[in-house]
Amino acid sequence: MNVQVKSEIPRCPGAPTFQEIMRSDGGIIKDVLAAQSNPPQSRDDIPFSKYISQDFASLEMKKMWEKVWQYVCREDQVAEPGDYLVYDIGHHSIVVVRTDDGALKAYHNSCLHRGTKLKPSESSGWSANIQCPYHGWTWNLDGTLNEVPCAWEFPHLDYETNRLPEVQVDIWNGLVFINMDLNGPSLLEYLGVLPEHFKDWPWTDWYLFMHLEKELYCNWKTAQEAFMEAYHTPLVHPELTQVVGDWNMQHDVFDDHVTRDLCALAVASPAAKKKISEQERIDRVMLGGRSPDGKSVTLEEGQSARNAMAKQVRKALTDGFGMDTSSFSDAEMIDSIKYNLFPNIFLYTGMALRSIHRVKPIKNDPNRCTFEVLMMRPVPKGQPRPDPAQMVKIPEDMNYVDVKELAAFPLSQITFDQDTGNLRAQHEGMLASAKGAETLSIYQESRIRAFHDTLDKYINR
Ligand code: FES
Ligand SMILES: [Fe+2]
Repeated sequence: MNVQVKSEIPRCPGAPTFQEIMRSDGGIIKDVLAAQSNPPQSRDDIPFSKYISQDFASLEMKKMWEKVWQYVCREDQVAEPGDYLVYDIGHHSIVVVRTDDGALKAYHNSCLHRGTKLKPSESSGWSANIQCPYHGWTWNLDGTLNEVPCAWEFPHLDYETNRLPEVQVDIWNGLVFINMDLNGPSLLEYLGVLPEHFKDWPWTDWYLFMHLEKELYCNWKTAQEAFMEAYHTPLVHPELTQVVGDWNMQHDVFDDHVTRDLCALAVASPAAKKKISEQERIDRVMLGGRSPDGKSVTLEEGQSARNAMAKQVRKALTDGFGMDTSSFSDAEMIDSIKYNLFPNIFLYTGMALRSIHRVKPIKNDPNRCTFEVLMMRPVPKGQPRPDPAQMVKIPEDMNYVDVKELAAFPLSQITFDQDTGNLRAQHEGMLASAKGAETLSIYQESRIRAFHDTLDKYINR
């Protein structure tokens, strides 16, 4: 791994770095987690027009969304010939289909007769072919035109050229992506360092067990940026202060499309005022002293809360899913290892927390977005792959603490409510701003800066 750009930017003074915390665990240190990259950046303010202007949202759709690779679904959601899933972004709609020969294809979801959507937005299911619901023009799964009712009415129709127009589609690590730009880079080129970084973290043996989508009143970037820094964490999530290394989290910027943060768990925040024992810390990590198997965790002499938590996670993965965790470090077992793939997904690839967050604008509205949480679990060894979860929609005025699907994750319920609770106020504050711009911190918000730098590159192309 050749990524070792030393940062000249000062980190949280007096607090251990993620690297120091990871090394104090002992055991394996993997190159991928030892890598650091945070090149110098501009310190200019970023205008709020990028978040609130309709003109900018339209430009963003044309110059960015139509040019980038976007995560659609897990491969097992379109596993069999005839399985399809519709992906919508802005006014665009793309239908992804598994063809009879097992290939994946993706088409613009619009009929070549008079334009009707071939499949409803956000739908998924199975069909033997793709038939328009209006007059019944029908395409084969491979996109060739199969049948036109009253064919004698269309002597001028060339079946060969009336194939469904395609977009690029490809799979990486069990994840399906599309790109509307037929002249754009391949998915592999676009992913930059991701394939190399994820070589020990295959996602193919994990399945989607929960999928939540919530509507939010804010720009999609505002929602996303709440998960790109932990500067807000001590104030917004006070219950995490003794268990999350927030202000001293590591932020990496690898290339135009990939950034990362490494956040140590079961350590005190640099903002923690009170010193507590490691036993008290593990009690808080394990939610009242209970491990996933329901038993209290008593630390052995000299054992850290991190090591005890890692042991618990190893046991849960081995007992519950038959997984061999011996090649993973404690940091891989418990920490939040979160990659942001431009423009709009986070991949949490730690063993205790493997999930995807995705944020999308609603239609072309700069004021509204959807925030999705997709949680993964390992497929239990020797057992059939469970079916992927169906998406559950949550309205903006419903709290995560009232979402029954999340009842087993009380800390996630609280933190998601806290994280999304500020977003309406932030968006309304942007609209009310006299300054008209934001001023970012130099390290803790460097990934937000990197995101905007890349966005500007697309906008200015
Ligand atoms: S609009 Fe599709 S068949 Fe007429
Ligand atoms: Fe947060």
